[in-house]
Amino acid sequence: MLAQRPPMGWNSWNTFGKDINETLIFQIADTLVEKGYRDAGYEYLIIDDCWSLKERDAAGNLVPDPEKFPHGMKTVADYVHSKGLKFGMYSCAGILTCAGYPSSYDHEFQDAALFAEWGIDYLKYDYCNFPKNADCVNRYQTMSMALKTTGRDILFAACNWGSENSWNWMRSIGAHTYRSTGDIFDNFRSFMGIFQSQLEHLCQSGPYCFNDMDMLTVGMYNQGNVAIGKPCTDSEYRMQFSLWCLAGTPLIMGSDIRNIPPQMEQLLLNKELIAINQDPECRPPYLVGKRSVMVPEENTDEAIEPLRMVKDKLLTFIKHLSNQEFAIAYYNLHEEEQEMNCIFADVGLPYASGYGFDMTDVFTGEHIGIKRDYHIVSVPGHDCQLFCCRLVNCTTPEKQAGF
Ligand code: GLA
Repeated sequence: MLAQRPPMGWNSWNTFGKDINETLIFQIADTLVEKGYRDAGYEYLIIDDCWSLKERDAAGNLVPDPEKFPHGMKTVADYVHSKGLKFGMYSCAGILTCAGYPSSYDHEFQDAALFAEWGIDYLKYDYCNFPKNADCVNRYQTMSMALKTTGRDILFAACNWGSENSWNWMRSIGAHTYRSTGDIFDNFRSFMGIFQSQLEHLCQSGPYCFNDMDMLTVGMYNQGNVAIGKPCTDSEYRMQFSLWCLAGTPLIMGSDIRNIPPQMEQLLLNKELIAINQDPECRPPYLVGKRSVMVPEENTDEAIEPLRMVKDKLLTFIKHLSNQEFAIAYYNLHEEEQEMNCIFADVGLPYASGYGFDMTDVFTGEHIGIKRDYHIVSVPGHDCQLFCCRLVNCTTPEKQAGF
């Protein structure tokens, strides 16, 4: 069964845009294996837009650009598979893809059959150049069905940017993931806006159909195709990656993983963070004490769509994990350092319960110890802190030693 947990992988768009080719894809496949990404769970290698010629062939089939992919897509798929990875490709529900290449409107069954013949395991399905009178839900339904007729297990990664309130119907039409916002760009405001705009919808995300907040920009440092705005700092990348983990959204890397610094490799490979993302219960994070303060963003000038943001700039979350474990996370959206706290009564664990949390810092691995009643941390500007927490009975010394 596909997408029992949020899919993980790498996609070409964020860094490379149209500059893709077989050599690059082979090198990325090698890197996924050699640097340990595959073994950490990043299994899908996905080629985004700009892989084909601008015209279909005489039989109406899509044709891989022979300059970029001289041996065709089956060869690429075979190489990716030989590395123990899965192979993803891209098409679009409209007449042309976003970059102007032929796409699958009215060719759904033909294209799905071709993709299956090449051996793809994942299809990202975009929404540009969609006929105004066509029915969005029906067309996504059609490609979902077309993929099923191939008999091959192909993860259907729908990407209509949240149009037609996609969170309400994408699961019903068979999508395994659905992109819920406009495109991410490699800056703080972009990823934070995307995360906040989806907070209200994360309860409509779970096994077999996940809300997809777009590919990560972690480690790009404003190099590449979606490099717009003020470059992210390392702590902003920590915020981005850990928010994606808390949200249980797909972890699809977008940086040039052949050349990112060690601290970014460590972040993307952090086992505890990945475990939070992949937790079997797939629960959304709970925003502590800030319900119903989502407001339309004031300045929407640069926004692709109006975002709904949390008014406050200090965000504390708790995420329930399996095995009586939890993650508590603090995000400081101010430029300056702030003191933040979590009063455990606000997450259902008052002093009178007799229980506390045994806390470990997820980024440093430091064991903080048992906290009861509340927890206070100092969080630098545009940074975060995240703790794994285990319930501990604090009433007897013996019980303090273990649960
Ligand atoms: C849209 C999608 C992006 C990317 C581009 C490719 O903008 O949202 O993720 O696939 O198209 O052209």
